[in-house]
Amino acid sequence: MKFFIDTANLQQIKEAQDLGVLDGVTTNPSLMAKEGISGDDNVINHYKAICGIVDGDVSAEVISTKYEEMITEGERLAALDSKIVVKVPMIKDGIKAIKYFSQKGIKTNCTLVFSAGQALLAAKAGATYVSPFIGRLDDISVDGLGLIEEIREIYDNYGFQTQILAASVRHSTHILGCAKIGADVMTGPLSAILSLLKHPLTDSGLAQFLADYENVKQK
Ligand code: E4P
Repeated sequence: MKFFIDTANLQQIKEAQDLGVLDGVTTNPSLMAKEGISGDDNVINHYKAICGIVDGDVSAEVISTKYEEMITEGERLAALDSKIVVKVPMIKDGIKAIKYFSQKGIKTNCTLVFSAGQALLAAKAGATYVSPFIGRLDDISVDGLGLIEEIREIYDNYGFQTQILAASVRHSTHILGCAKIGADVMTGPLSAILSLLKHPLTDSGLAQFLADYENVKQK
């Protein structure tokens, strides 16, 4: 399973990249706003900076909601770097735009997906990635991982090449659930990735090893 980091924070992207386990980045307009990035030039420069840090795909979301405008915006984003994946919302014009981009060989990420039907449509349109938001479903007491299972089954039934990018991941249990089901990618915050490191027996075991080593050294 590929690990993407879900942030526009350059420091956190660098930290995840330095860990050696990062396969890509996803951003969205809220994450860009959180970093204080606004205005065309700043947004473009920020995407270039992210592409300069990571080796893998970088999702850059269109702001437009009309087909023609999405095409113009998406083509401009895609021209920035071969790592750019044009992130398009799951709306009617978005599906048309995904079809257009897929025919042009431009990578896409269909975002704001909350049902298997939406995921089926995204795959039919030729999306490179589909982003089901599992954390936001859990927030409204709907089983987010259950949706990943449904989409996996449907895609496998027909051999769809669209990659399941489990999004809105909040913690290590989500990551492990996605891995067990066979999601292709998960995207989450740095804290969720780092939480995989933690186990109390690792901490106490390491403390014991080091203490035993010190004792022998002093004798
Ligand atoms: C997906 O690509 C989105 O950026 C993201 O995963 C949304 O997560 P959130 O629900 O934590 O905002």
